[in-house]
Amino acid sequence: MSGNRLDGKIVIITGGASGIGAESVRLFTEHGARVVIVDVQDGLGQNLAASIGEDKASYYHCDVTNETEVQKAVKFTVDKHGKLDVLFSNAGVIEPFASILDLNLDELDRIFSVNLRGAAAFIKHAARAMVEKGTRGSIVCTTSVAAEISGTAPHGYTASKHGLLGLIKSASGGLGQYGIRVNGVAPFGVATPLVCNGFKIEANVVEENTLASANLKGIVLKARHVAEAALFLVSDESAYVSGQNLAVDGGYSVVKLLI
Ligand SMILES: NC(=O)c1ccc[n+]([C@@H]2O[C@H](COP(=O)([O-])OP(=O)(O)OC[C@H]3O[C@@H](n4cnc5c(N)ncnc54)[C@H](O)[C@@H]3O)[C@@H](O)[C@H]2O)c1
Repeated sequence: MSGNRLDGKIVIITGGASGIGAESVRLFTEHGARVVIVDVQDGLGQNLAASIGEDKASYYHCDVTNETEVQKAVKFTVDKHGKLDVLFSNAGVIEPFASILDLNLDELDRIFSVNLRGAAAFIKHAARAMVEKGTRGSIVCTTSVAAEISGTAPHGYTASKHGLLGLIKSASGGLGQYGIRVNGVAPFGVATPLVCNGFKIEANVVEENTLASANLKGIVLKARHVAEAALFLVSDESAYVSGQNLAVDGGYSVVKLLI
């Protein structure tokens, strides 16, 4: 369903070329936003922008682990559109499951550099642009159910998402004085390349596993559901919501039925 919930808003979506990010690019532009897609998958990102229309969506190559590139991506956006209202920091990577006894610390560094350090770099530079322009902006990061519980994801990923949730709370504390909100959106398992390629599982198996584990029945979790929750958090409808982590998990993280 299209609407005008983001009319006039200038948005950066990291990891916007694929999965949840790409679905958010489509949904946010349907709602009137002009979006800069940030990613390292140039072909996918450029094709997505072209399919939506260059007036509404553009692609910018940026590796979130490189602070200089992050700074340039924010500058590109502000130069092109005059301001920045919304950052959806969504880029993420995952590693294969392994025992903590075999924890690969180089892998851990790689996961942290994207999921945590990359988000930190984008929050820093996006918030600077918002403060400079006096924009009462909204920053949303894609966390995970693995930001609050363990056992659903590999160790490095789980630790990175717990750290990201800490960063969200901390940044919301620091940015409230400027009228900038910072929140998380926390999905359960969605059949995207991150999960399907990362764990070598078919999309239908990912969806069946999520359906079987979630408390809520009769609905299959799709990237669109996560994008809808992110839309609420980036829009003015959540004007007094900050420092929160909105679970999109069919009750998985809070319900433990005994009977
Ligand atoms: N799919 C799930 O089940 C699930 C569940 C919880 C949280 N998440 C989170 O959702 C977010 C989006 O993941 P997705 O499931 O849509 O997967 P995806 O693989 O489809 O999308 C992730 C995107 O991030 C980009 N990316 C990775 N490293 C990058 C870097 N260094 N610089 C710039 N871009 C980079 C990738 O190129 C890709 O386009 C991630 O943060 C992920 O941790 C996903």
